[in-house]
Amino acid sequence: MLVELNNVKKEYSLGKAKVQALRGITLNINRGDFITIAGPSGSGKTTLLNLVGCLDTPTEGTVFFDGVDISTLDLTQRAYLRNEKIGFIFQSFNLIPVLNVYENVELPVRVGRRKASGRELKDWIMHLIEAVGLADRIKHKPEELSGGQRQRVAVARALVNKPHLVLADEPTGNLDSETAVKILDIMRKLNQEAKTTFLFSTHDQEIIQRCDSVVRIKDGHLV
Ligand SMILES: Nc1ncnc2c1ncn2[C@@H]1O[C@H](COP(=O)(O)OP(=O)(O)O)[C@@H](O)[C@H]1O
Ligand SMILES: [Mg+2]
Repeated sequence: MLVELNNVKKEYSLGKAKVQALRGITLNINRGDFITIAGPSGSGKTTLLNLVGCLDTPTEGTVFFDGVDISTLDLTQRAYLRNEKIGFIFQSFNLIPVLNVYENVELPVRVGRRKASGRELKDWIMHLIEAVGLADRIKHKPEELSGGQRQRVAVARALVNKPHLVLADEPTGNLDSETAVKILDIMRKLNQEAKTTFLFSTHDQEIIQRCDSVVRIKDGHLV
Protein backbone atom coordinates (compact mmCIF):
# COMPACT_ATOMS: atom_id res chain seq x y z
CA MET A 1 0.00 0.00 0.00
CA LEU A 2 1.41 3.35 -1.03
CA VAL A 3 -1.25 5.71 0.32
CA GLU A 4 -4.00 4.96 2.79
CA LEU A 5 -6.77 7.43 3.62
CA ASN A 6 -8.96 6.55 6.60
CA ASN A 7 -12.22 8.45 7.07
CA VAL A 8 -10.59 11.69 5.92
CA LYS A 9 -12.46 14.93 6.40
CA LYS A 10 -11.36 18.36 5.29
CA GLU A 11 -13.02 21.55 6.36
CA TYR A 12 -12.02 25.00 5.10
CA SER A 13 -12.91 28.19 6.95
CA LEU A 14 -13.97 31.11 4.81
CA GLY A 15 -14.42 33.91 7.30
CA LYS A 16 -17.20 32.64 9.54
CA ALA A 17 -18.45 30.14 7.00
CA LYS A 18 -17.20 26.56 6.98
CA VAL A 19 -16.88 24.50 3.81
CA GLN A 20 -16.94 20.71 4.16
CA ALA A 21 -14.77 19.81 1.19
CA LEU A 22 -14.30 16.12 2.13
CA ARG A 23 -16.79 14.29 4.31
CA GLY A 24 -15.17 10.99 5.25
CA ILE A 25 -13.06 9.47 2.49
CA THR A 26 -11.57 5.99 2.85
CA LEU A 27 -9.33 5.03 -0.04
CA ASN A 28 -6.23 2.91 -0.66
CA ILE A 29 -3.75 3.50 -3.46
CA ASN A 30 -1.45 0.61 -4.31
CA ARG A 31 1.93 0.69 -6.00
CA GLY A 32 1.53 0.62 -9.76
CA ASP A 33 -2.08 1.86 -9.73
CA PHE A 34 -3.22 3.96 -12.70
CA ILE A 35 -6.33 5.43 -11.23
CA THR A 36 -8.50 8.50 -11.53
CA ILE A 37 -10.80 10.45 -9.27
CA ALA A 38 -13.75 11.62 -11.29
CA GLY A 39 -16.31 14.16 -10.20
CA PRO A 40 -17.87 17.50 -11.04
CA SER A 41 -16.30 20.85 -10.28
CA GLY A 42 -16.31 21.58 -6.55
CA SER A 43 -16.69 17.91 -5.53
CA GLY A 44 -13.37 17.83 -3.65
CA LYS A 45 -10.91 16.39 -6.19
CA THR A 46 -8.15 18.97 -5.74
CA THR A 47 -8.56 18.86 -1.96
CA LEU A 48 -8.14 15.08 -2.05
CA LEU A 49 -5.04 15.27 -4.28
CA ASN A 50 -3.51 17.90 -2.00
CA LEU A 51 -3.91 15.53 0.96
CA VAL A 52 -2.52 12.52 -0.91
CA GLY A 53 0.37 14.75 -2.05
CA CYS A 54 1.18 15.89 1.51
CA LEU A 55 0.56 19.52 0.54
CA ASP A 56 -2.04 19.69 3.30
CA THR A 57 -3.23 17.70 6.31
CA PRO A 58 -6.78 16.51 7.07
CA THR A 59 -9.10 18.12 9.59
CA GLU A 60 -10.09 14.61 10.75
CA GLY A 61 -8.99 11.10 9.85
CA THR A 62 -5.55 9.93 8.79
CA VAL A 63 -3.41 9.90 5.66
CA PHE A 64 -0.56 7.38 5.59
CA PHE A 65 2.07 7.81 2.88
CA ASP A 66 4.48 4.88 2.59
CA GLY A 67 3.44 3.81 6.08
CA VAL A 68 3.96 7.24 7.68
CA ASP A 69 1.11 9.29 9.15
CA ILE A 70 1.67 12.63 7.38
CA SER A 71 0.25 14.66 10.27
CA THR A 72 3.30 13.59 12.33
CA LEU A 73 5.68 15.28 9.86
CA ASP A 74 6.71 18.92 10.15
CA LEU A 75 6.70 21.24 7.12
CA THR A 76 10.32 20.50 6.19
CA GLN A 77 9.83 16.74 6.42
CA ARG A 78 6.71 16.98 4.26
CA ALA A 79 8.61 19.10 1.71
CA TYR A 80 11.38 16.47 1.43
CA LEU A 81 8.84 13.68 1.17
CA ARG A 82 7.11 15.51 -1.70
CA ASN A 83 10.37 16.33 -3.46
CA GLU A 84 11.70 12.77 -3.24
CA LYS A 85 8.61 10.62 -3.65
CA ILE A 86 5.89 12.58 -5.42
CA GLY A 87 5.68 14.25 -8.82
CA PHE A 88 3.04 16.92 -9.35
CA ILE A 89 1.31 17.96 -12.54
CA PHE A 90 -1.00 20.89 -11.98
CA GLN A 91 -3.73 22.07 -14.31
CA SER A 92 -1.92 25.38 -14.84
CA PHE A 93 1.45 23.57 -15.32
CA ASN A 94 3.30 25.93 -12.92
CA LEU A 95 6.43 26.19 -15.05
CA ILE A 96 9.02 28.83 -14.17
CA PRO A 97 8.85 31.51 -16.93
CA VAL A 98 12.54 32.53 -16.81
CA LEU A 99 13.80 28.93 -17.09
CA ASN A 100 14.01 27.03 -20.36
CA VAL A 101 12.65 23.50 -20.92
CA TYR A 102 15.80 21.75 -19.69
CA GLU A 103 16.07 23.95 -16.59
CA ASN A 104 12.39 23.53 -15.71
CA VAL A 105 12.74 19.74 -15.86
CA GLU A 106 15.95 19.91 -13.79
CA LEU A 107 14.50 22.15 -11.07
CA PRO A 108 13.22 19.45 -8.65
CA VAL A 109 16.75 17.97 -8.62
CA ARG A 110 18.28 21.37 -7.83
CA VAL A 111 15.97 22.01 -4.88
CA GLY A 112 16.22 18.47 -3.48
CA ARG A 113 18.75 17.12 -0.99
CA ARG A 114 20.16 14.43 -3.28
CA LYS A 115 22.55 16.66 -5.17
CA ALA A 116 22.81 14.62 -8.33
CA SER A 117 24.89 16.13 -11.12
CA GLY A 118 27.12 15.23 -14.01
CA ARG A 119 26.71 13.09 -17.08
CA GLU A 120 24.19 10.63 -15.65
CA LEU A 121 21.80 13.38 -14.58
CA LYS A 122 22.09 15.17 -17.91
CA ASP A 123 21.38 11.93 -19.78
CA TRP A 124 18.33 11.23 -17.61
CA ILE A 125 16.91 14.73 -18.14
CA MET A 126 17.52 14.45 -21.88
CA HIS A 127 15.87 11.03 -21.90
CA LEU A 128 12.75 12.48 -20.26
CA ILE A 129 12.65 15.46 -22.60
CA GLU A 130 12.95 13.11 -25.57
CA ALA A 131 10.27 10.82 -24.14
CA VAL A 132 7.79 13.70 -24.09
CA GLY A 133 8.81 14.71 -27.61
CA LEU A 134 10.55 18.01 -26.87
CA ALA A 135 14.14 17.22 -27.86
CA ASP A 136 14.08 20.10 -30.35
CA ARG A 137 12.74 22.58 -27.77
CA ILE A 138 15.31 22.29 -24.98
CA LYS A 139 16.28 25.96 -24.94
CA HIS A 140 12.74 27.31 -25.30
CA LYS A 141 11.06 29.24 -22.50
CA PRO A 142 7.48 28.30 -21.50
CA GLU A 143 6.01 31.34 -23.29
CA GLU A 144 7.54 30.04 -26.54
CA LEU A 145 5.66 26.72 -26.25
CA SER A 146 2.10 25.64 -26.97
CA GLY A 147 -0.23 24.49 -24.19
CA GLY A 148 0.39 20.84 -25.02
CA GLN A 149 4.16 21.34 -25.05
CA ARG A 150 4.05 23.08 -21.66
CA GLN A 151 2.05 20.21 -20.29
CA ARG A 152 4.69 17.78 -21.57
CA VAL A 153 7.40 19.80 -19.80
CA ALA A 154 5.34 19.46 -16.62
CA VAL A 155 5.15 15.68 -17.15
CA ALA A 156 8.93 15.42 -17.58
CA ARG A 157 9.53 17.60 -14.54
CA ALA A 158 7.15 15.49 -12.45
CA LEU A 159 9.22 12.40 -13.27
CA VAL A 160 12.76 13.72 -12.89
CA ASN A 161 13.23 12.55 -9.28
CA LYS A 162 11.82 9.09 -10.14
CA PRO A 163 8.83 9.50 -7.83
CA HIS A 164 6.81 6.59 -6.44
CA LEU A 165 3.65 8.54 -7.13
CA VAL A 166 2.61 11.09 -9.75
CA LEU A 167 -0.41 13.26 -9.00
CA ALA A 168 -2.03 14.98 -11.94
CA ASP A 169 -4.85 17.41 -11.22
CA GLU A 170 -7.03 17.68 -14.35
CA PRO A 171 -3.91 17.31 -16.50
CA THR A 172 -5.75 17.47 -19.80
CA GLY A 173 -8.12 20.27 -18.87
CA ASN A 174 -6.34 22.77 -21.11
CA LEU A 175 -5.47 20.42 -23.96
CA ASP A 176 -7.11 19.31 -27.18
CA SER A 177 -8.05 15.64 -27.10
CA GLU A 178 -5.31 14.47 -29.50
CA THR A 179 -2.59 16.02 -27.29
CA ALA A 180 -4.32 14.71 -24.18
CA VAL A 181 -4.24 11.16 -25.52
CA LYS A 182 -0.55 11.45 -26.43
CA ILE A 183 0.34 12.65 -22.95
CA LEU A 184 -1.71 9.89 -21.36
CA ASP A 185 0.13 7.34 -23.49
CA ILE A 186 3.47 8.67 -22.20
CA MET A 187 2.28 8.32 -18.62
CA ARG A 188 0.89 4.83 -19.23
CA LYS A 189 4.24 3.72 -20.65
CA LEU A 190 6.02 4.94 -17.53
CA ASN A 191 3.43 3.24 -15.39
CA GLN A 192 4.11 -0.06 -17.16
CA GLU A 193 7.89 0.24 -17.45
CA ALA A 194 8.83 1.83 -14.12
CA LYS A 195 5.72 0.77 -12.12
CA THR A 196 5.19 4.44 -11.26
CA THR A 197 1.83 4.99 -9.58
CA PHE A 198 -0.46 7.57 -11.17
CA LEU A 199 -3.43 9.29 -9.57
CA PHE A 200 -5.42 11.70 -11.73
CA SER A 201 -8.36 13.94 -11.08
CA THR A 202 -10.58 14.66 -14.01
CA HIS A 203 -13.97 14.89 -15.58
CA ASP A 204 -12.48 14.04 -18.98
CA GLN A 205 -13.84 10.79 -20.50
CA GLU A 206 -10.55 10.19 -22.36
CA ILE A 207 -8.74 9.83 -19.05
CA ILE A 208 -11.53 7.90 -17.37
CA GLN A 209 -11.56 5.32 -20.18
CA ARG A 210 -7.79 4.85 -20.09
CA CYS A 211 -7.45 4.26 -16.36
CA ASP A 212 -7.54 0.86 -14.65
CA SER A 213 -9.95 2.10 -12.04
CA VAL A 214 -12.16 5.09 -11.41
CA VAL A 215 -13.16 6.47 -8.04
CA ARG A 216 -16.17 8.76 -8.21
CA ILE A 217 -16.55 11.68 -5.86
CA LYS A 218 -19.52 13.96 -5.25
CA ASP A 219 -19.97 16.64 -2.58
CA GLY A 220 -16.96 15.32 -0.67
CA HIS A 221 -18.21 11.70 -0.59
CA LEU A 222 -17.08 8.72 -2.66
CA VAL A 223 -20.03 7.36 -4.61
N1 LIG B 1 -8.73 27.08 0.14
C1 LIG B 1 -10.06 26.95 0.20
N2 LIG B 1 -10.77 27.69 1.07
C2 LIG B 1 -12.11 27.55 1.17
N3 LIG B 1 -12.85 26.68 0.42
C3 LIG B 1 -12.18 25.92 -0.45
C4 LIG B 1 -10.77 26.01 -0.62
N4 LIG B 1 -10.38 25.11 -1.57
C5 LIG B 1 -11.52 24.51 -1.97
N5 LIG B 1 -12.59 24.97 -1.31
C6 LIG B 1 -13.99 24.51 -1.47
O1 LIG B 1 -14.00 23.11 -1.21
C7 LIG B 1 -14.86 22.43 -2.14
C8 LIG B 1 -14.04 21.41 -2.93
O2 LIG B 1 -13.13 22.12 -3.75
P1 LIG B 1 -12.05 21.41 -4.68
O3 LIG B 1 -11.35 20.36 -3.89
O4 LIG B 1 -11.23 22.46 -5.29
O5 LIG B 1 -12.99 20.69 -5.77
P2 LIG B 1 -12.68 20.23 -7.27
O6 LIG B 1 -11.19 20.12 -7.43
O7 LIG B 1 -13.38 18.91 -7.41
O8 LIG B 1 -13.26 21.25 -8.17
C9 LIG B 1 -15.49 23.52 -3.00
O9 LIG B 1 -16.74 23.84 -2.44
C10 LIG B 1 -14.52 24.67 -2.88
O10 LIG B 1 -15.17 25.89 -3.05
MG1 LIG C 1 -9.90 21.02 -8.77
